[in-house]
Amino acid sequence: EILPTSQLASLTVAREIAELIKSKAAKGEKCVLGLATGSTPTQVYNQLVRMHKEEGLSFKNVITFNLDEYFPMQPNELQSYVRFMKEYLFDHVDIDMANVNIPDGTVAKEDVYEYCRNYEAKIDSVGGIDLQLLGIGRTGHIGFNEPGSSITSPTRMITLDHITRVDAASDFFAQENVPRHAITMGVGTIMKAKKIILMAWGEGKAKVIARTIEGEVSEQVPATYLQRHSNTQFYLDISASAEL
Ligand code: GLP
Repeated sequence: EILPTSQLASLTVAREIAELIKSKAAKGEKCVLGLATGSTPTQVYNQLVRMHKEEGLSFKNVITFNLDEYFPMQPNELQSYVRFMKEYLFDHVDIDMANVNIPDGTVAKEDVYEYCRNYEAKIDSVGGIDLQLLGIGRTGHIGFNEPGSSITSPTRMITLDHITRVDAASDFFAQENVPRHAITMGVGTIMKAKKIILMAWGEGKAKVIARTIEGEVSEQVPATYLQRHSNTQFYLDISASAEL
C-alpha cells in the first residue's frame, strides 16, 4: 500500500488494528499484538490513543509483546523501549499492564538465554501473535535482527550492527553511548505471526525497501525473509516507495 503521506498510512494501519481488537472483543477473545518502537510507528500509537479517548476503543482484551530492547537498559532510562511504549501508548489507554511484555534489559547476562526461551514460550502460550507491527532499519533489520540472522532465529541477544549504532547515536547523544547489544524477537518468532504489517516512511528508507520487496531473499537483508510470509503487508509513503 503506497499512500501519499505517513499520516494517512498510519491512520489506515491504526484503523485496521482497532477493527481487529474490536472483532476479537466481540467474540470474547484476547487480541495479541506484536509492537515496534522507533519513529515509524509513533503516529499509529497517537491514532490509537485518540481512538481510545474519542471513540471508546478499549484495550482491555489486548496482550502485547514488544520486539526488542537495548541491552543493558534500565526501564526508566530515556532511550528505553519500556519508557517509549509508556509515553506513546500504554500510559494513555486502558490496557492491563500485566498483559504488556517488553524484553527486559536488566536481566543478568547469564540468564538472558533462559529469559529469551521464556519470552518465546509466553507468546506461544497465548496462541501466538495476531498482528505484528514492524519498522525497518537501514541495515534491513526487523526488530534488531541484523544481517546474518537466520530465518528460523529465535528470541535472543544480538550484537548491534555498526550502521544501527550510528543511526541510534542521536538518541544516546553520542555513538559511544549506544549499547552494543540488544534482546530481540527472532526472525522465526516474527514469521510465526498470523499477520505482519511493515511500515516505512521517508526517502532514507527507499533503498532498503526496494531491496526488501524486489531483491533476492538473503540473510544480508533480514527483512527480505518477509517475502516468504503468506500474510505480510507493506505500508509506505511516496518517498519510501521511490525506488520500487
Ligand atoms: C530500531 C528498532 C526497530 C526499528 C528501527 C527503525 O532499530 N529496534 O524496530 O524498526 O529502529 O527506526 P525508525 O522507525 O526510527 O526509522
